[in-house]
Amino acid sequence: MTDTGFDPRRLKALERAGFNRIAHRYAESAELRRAVNQALLTAARLQPGLSVLDLASGPGLLAHAAQEALGPAGEVFASDIAEQMLVAARNTRPHAPPPAARAAMHYVAADAEHLSLRDHCVDRVLAGLALFMLPHPERGLAEMHRVLRPGGVLALSVWGAREDVPLIHCAQDCIARLLPPPRQARPSVFRFGDPRQLEHSLQQAGFRQIALQRIDFDCHFSHARDYWQAFLDLAGGAAESLSRLPEATQDRLRDEVAHELSRFRQSSDKAGYLVPATAWIAHAVA
Ligand SMILES: C[S@@+](CC[C@H](N)C(=O)[O-])C[C@H]1O[C@@H](n2cnc3c(N)ncnc32)[C@H](O)[C@@H]1O
Repeated sequence: MTDTGFDPRRLKALERAGFNRIAHRYAESAELRRAVNQALLTAARLQPGLSVLDLASGPGLLAHAAQEALGPAGEVFASDIAEQMLVAARNTRPHAPPPAARAAMHYVAADAEHLSLRDHCVDRVLAGLALFMLPHPERGLAEMHRVLRPGGVLALSVWGAREDVPLIHCAQDCIARLLPPPRQARPSVFRFGDPRQLEHSLQQAGFRQIALQRIDFDCHFSHARDYWQAFLDLAGGAAESLSRLPEATQDRLRDEVAHELSRFRQSSDKAGYLVPATAWIAHAVA
């Protein structure tokens, strides 16, 4: 543990507990970010017969899409630190093609900074909204580079700059106003929001032919409480800490969020709130 209170092991334990807690709900809220996943899959240039690792897979939205794109000759590893996410990935698959028409799937509970896969064993690594979660993202990128075959492709997404992602910072601002700072310091989810930082980190890990794409999108919420629920469904470790607060504090937070969100209220025909967000997609070659 350093002077700043940053403790990687505790942070990972908190994220794991938080994502295990929200695993059964995550996929529903993830629908809001469909545009990000589609852009990542395009950047991955999937082809039949390839072998793909979906790192920090969550409930497997990218892994399942890859399974279909690769066809029966392909192979997918869905990997996450939160084992309940992998249980959700296994169980929540309403429109899956028959097994004979899709790639083999392997579920692997693993820390993205210490993968158990062999060197150079996959053609693609997908990492959706995951890099900023890692206490040591450079270790995660080194692992992605290690498991990719030379010439293999990494496709990942990260959140944009803080001011461009009210989808997250509105809730964070309310939490910062009402609650004391967390005991467990957590790195910012916006730390790769500057594309120069993302490109530099990829270069440092040995990636080349790096291409970055900005994705701007809006999420519609009928009620402020739907926004708050979607935030909790995405928040992992933060959700775990918030769930331990007294009910009265949680009520105050919900009220504060409703107030904060009022600037995104729709005045016209589509009632509710339209909340903007930005993500970056990276394509890089090992
Ligand atoms: C925001 S979710 C993204 C899920 C999925 N990739 C997507 O795009 O929908 C982040 C995921 O990272 C996982 N995660 C957090 N820390 C991790 C770590 N150290 N190693 C592996 N997975 C981790 C969480 O359990 C969670 O499923």
